[in-house]
Amino acid sequence: MGKWFPSIYDMAMSPLEKGTFKTIRKELIGKAAGRVLEIGAGTGINFPFYQNVERVDAIEPNPLMIEKAKKRLHLADVPVQYHTQSAENLSFPNMTFDSVVATLVLCSIPDPVSALKEIKRVAKPNASILFFEHVKMEQPFLAQLQETLTPAWKKVCDGCHLNRNTLALIREAGFEIQKVESYYKGLFLVIECR
Ligand SMILES: C[S@@+](CC[C@H](N)C(=O)[O-])C[C@H]1O[C@@H](n2cnc3c(N)ncnc32)[C@H](O)[C@@H]1O
Repeated sequence: MGKWFPSIYDMAMSPLEKGTFKTIRKELIGKAAGRVLEIGAGTGINFPFYQNVERVDAIEPNPLMIEKAKKRLHLADVPVQYHTQSAENLSFPNMTFDSVVATLVLCSIPDPVSALKEIKRVAKPNASILFFEHVKMEQPFLAQLQETLTPAWKKVCDGCHLNRNTLALIREAGFEIQKVESYYKGLFLVIECR
């Protein structure tokens, strides 16, 4: 688990976060309702966008990310409880959550198939599952570039895979996909499912 990655993450992301990402996050997170699970909450960038939810259980395995996120807790209008754990092995009982949120995280999870299984297990039937992810692009040249860059990128960006076909993984996990929106020529997808 990277030590320096948490210390540069917010700064590296800030040009994107001030523009399109802020709009995407606000709209997507605004759709969460009831009891919410956030997967890989990182530095807590989504906290200010939760409105009208009962509470958020935010899971994150990297203690250095959690340290950063704790400084953002006061920006949340709703109760947020942080848990040090991984998405592949969630501590919550079956059918606990009305909504599950994961932003820019399935790319970094070592075993995304197990994580999606766990999300399915802890979500209530018909829960809203809200993803914002970067994915393998469809354009062949760009997809190949992502393949080529991934081994080095993984080392620099704490295990992040540029070449993951996350939409296919979500579909294969049995989620009912309701809406997909594409940004930056298909590099980023907003995926809403149940
Ligand atoms: C690129 S950051 C995204 C953080 C935040 N969700 C955001 O939107 O900015 C990826 C996050 O996934 C977390 N992560 C890595 N492996 C994980 C796992 N197995 N389960 C849950 N989160 C994980 C990392 O620690 C990191 O905080």
